Amino acid sequence: MPESSDLRLTRLPLNNGRGLMPALGFGTLIPDKAETITATRYALEAGFRHFDCAERYRNEREVGEALQTGLAAGGIAREEIFVTTKLWNTNHRPERVEPAFDASLDRLGLDHLDLYLIHTPFAFQPGDEQDPRDQNGSVIYDNEVTLLDTWRAMESLVNHGRCRAIGLSDINLDILLSIYESARIKPAVVQVESHPYLPETELLEFCKEKGVVLLAFAPLGHGMKPGLLDDPVVSAIAARVGKTPAQVLLAWAVHRGTALLTTPRTAARARENFDISVLPEDAFNEINRIETRQRLNPVVTTGVPGFIARAS
Ligand SMILES: NC(=O)c1ccc[n+]([C@@H]2O[C@H](COP(=O)([O-])OP(=O)(O)OC[C@H]3O[C@@H](n4cnc5c(N)ncnc54)[C@H](OP(=O)(O)O)[C@@H]3O)[C@@H](O)[C@H]2O)c1
Repeated sequence: MPESSDLRLTRLPLNNGRGLMPALGFGTLIPDKAETITATRYALEAGFRHFDCAERYRNEREVGEALQTGLAAGGIAREEIFVTTKLWNTNHRPERVEPAFDASLDRLGLDHLDLYLIHTPFAFQPGDEQDPRDQNGSVIYDNEVTLLDTWRAMESLVNHGRCRAIGLSDINLDILLSIYESARIKPAVVQVESHPYLPETELLEFCKEKGVVLLAFAPLGHGMKPGLLDDPVVSAIAARVGKTPAQVLLAWAVHRGTALLTTPRTAARARENFDISVLPEDAFNEINRIETRQRLNPVVTTGVPGFIARAS
């Protein structure tokens, strides 16, 4: 159970002692630029204070614009929001890390980041083409750089005061362990797919033991149907407690001690997804007992994310 009884206000401590991450995060993987701006503004207005971006989403400029105008309109200080972005696979070579970081910061219109993540553990051929492919259509990986090389360059960003914390995304426990053991600055956050069909219990236990925040993406199962949103256990609990299935799933994620990312696009859904409350213990345990197992996003095995169009 989180320390705050108001799940909407739950914040999780970073293991470097440099602040707290709001558990409820808004994800900006939205293909349309105009919709990125409106959805980000709706999220801010609904109460979200944690924003997850990525170089790869190609909309950092629009997120930055929505944040600047939204903060000014709402009288919200920069310090009140937590902003993350991610280093893309084509920038894993150490000499490319700081320029990629600077370019993201510039597009976002910020002078520092709260969190910088290595988007996936897969290095792609370095260059401007984010999705490099050979003539057979296969991804061109880069074997000249290790994840630890990239991690060392990420550590330099923290040492130079450019971001508060660094972490990993789309990893498994073995990869986290290998970086954790060699790191001078330990990962503060790992962002992975997680929901009742993929609870990642072993990874979560390790994270809790080491004070690493597990940041769950796809808490609503990417909205796929049939899927989590119409799971009979979740739907029955929703009817019982007077909440929507989405609110039950998001509450479950915070209740078990993870942070999460969700991507409502309308104002009504932003308010719905922010308005979560503590689940009765029996409902929480019923969800824990769901036995369906399903990974929805193949990014963890290939470095190629689902849900991002290939053509730029
Ligand atoms: N690290 C990675 O590789 C990675 C991969 C994927 C995502 N992410 C991050 O995670 C964020 C979250 O993405 P996600 O797809 O995992 O989010 P999600 O919230 O699990 O799923 C979004 C889907 O759920 C639907 N939805 C949202 N709120 C709803 C509600 N209240 N009731 C019913 N349906 C609802 C949306 O439908 P509509 O579109 O119709 O509103 C959309 O189809 C992304 O924006 C990104 O920041 C990271």
